[in-house]
Amino acid sequence: MSDKIIIFDTTLRDGEQAPGASLNQREKLEVASALTHLGVDIIEAGFPISSKGDFEAVKAIAKSIKGPVICGLARAIKKDIDAAYQAVKFSKGPRIHVFLATSKIHMKYKLKKAEDEILRLAVEAVKYAKKYCSNIEFSPEDASRSEREFLFKVVEAVINAGATTVNIPDTVGYAEPEEFGSLIKAIKENVPNIHKAIISVHCHNDLGLAVANSLEAVKNGARQVECTINGIGERAGNASLEEIVMALDTRGDIFGNLKIDIKKNQIYKASRLVSKLTGFVIAPNKAIVGTNAFRHEAGIHQDGILKERSTYEIIKPQDVGFYGVGLVLGKHSGRHAFSERLKQLGFHLTAQQLNKAFVRFKQLADKKKNIFDDDLMAIVEDEIRAIKPLWQLDSFVVNSGTQITPTATVRLKKKGKILAVSSAGDGPVDACFKAIDKITNIKVKLQDYRLEAVTSGKDALGEVNLKLDLKGKIASGRGSSTDIIESSVRAYIDAINKIESK
Ligand code: KIV
Ligand code: ZN
Repeated sequence: MSDKIIIFDTTLRDGEQAPGASLNQREKLEVASALTHLGVDIIEAGFPISSKGDFEAVKAIAKSIKGPVICGLARAIKKDIDAAYQAVKFSKGPRIHVFLATSKIHMKYKLKKAEDEILRLAVEAVKYAKKYCSNIEFSPEDASRSEREFLFKVVEAVINAGATTVNIPDTVGYAEPEEFGSLIKAIKENVPNIHKAIISVHCHNDLGLAVANSLEAVKNGARQVECTINGIGERAGNASLEEIVMALDTRGDIFGNLKIDIKKNQIYKASRLVSKLTGFVIAPNKAIVGTNAFRHEAGIHQDGILKERSTYEIIKPQDVGFYGVGLVLGKHSGRHAFSERLKQLGFHLTAQQLNKAFVRFKQLADKKKNIFDDDLMAIVEDEIRAIKPLWQLDSFVVNSGTQITPTATVRLKKKGKILAVSSAGDGPVDACFKAIDKITNIKVKLQDYRLEAVTSGKDALGEVNLKLDLKGKIASGRGSSTDIIESSVRAYIDAINKIESK
């Protein structure tokens, strides 16, 4: 058995299925590029048959991403498999992932089909996909609630039909670690041709056990783990990539020092990007990537850390690319120091992006004495993303106070033209949003609004994450500035641009 763990990232497929997470093509390409820098082995880029947008995004990723295998999902239906192949075929390493449910519940109520038919359809689908490409994954959906004997039969049959990976999903997050580990062991012991395929696992987090179940599966012989950045995904999400990787790495002693090709120092950056683009804020106590993950508050802990870090720290924050909030640059820092620090943080900008980011850094340094890594990352992430959005903020003025009706005048730029409108509102932020609505003429509902300080101190950057609803289509937006009204306006325009780009 190989000692390499294949990291199969499904942030762009199962992760993007999370309600409200939807990403446009440009954002999917950004995430795919971050996943490539992170070193994932396989990117499940989408479900091509599900929409034209998904098809085009998978195709664009397959065309431009070099390194990881690019995978497309398909039901066990010819037209799904055709679409998956047509989208992934541009990749040097394409994979088709076919799934069909095997649990009694799914077969009876969802598919209305008997075991024999399911077995036949699974085999036919794999054989059909195999005509297109050699790399085929098959998932018996709801495997953890399937009858074991039937599951073994299906797994054996699809391997004979040409599946090179068999993925065992805990689709509804129902399994418990020991039970799930024993299922993997039983598959190894009862499927005669199992040595011809890689066993993969795909765990959901409904009981908070996705990572534990995946790790138990690894102990029992699984060699591919399907996971997502920040654990985003359907309902309570999928197993989190960063937790799986860091658990296997930190506890190599019990997992047998398995080989993982992930560049750990890219974890924090990838996590921030996914959070930013999906609008899913990371809980401060989230393992590995939460802002509190490496913070020590209790006096006894701080004392211990000062004496010897390993007293209370099992992972060095820098190992996952988290450099803390330490002061790095200030008003007098030059361009060289700025670009060097960005490289250390894992950002490789074009000369044009660097120029723009440097201008924003200088503007920020004029307003803010202490510039932290998180400030830099916020600026740079904004710049990297600023690829000609339709609407751009030119300027705004607000008038607000306890004795007056708040008003705002907002000036937006669209294709080089300035459009300005004034509006009153319940507060200065509301007045700005109303003015923007009048300019763009798009009737959106504000569904969610969160404001957070990115770093510490009164002059910290305020970051706004919000969600807009346009007739059921949800778009998230994020903006940051030392002025929280500006952060709000930027976040609102960001979401409007996403709506427009859809
Ligand atoms: O959770 C699940 O069963 C899936 C399959 C498509 C693998 O996402
Ligand atoms: Zn899933």
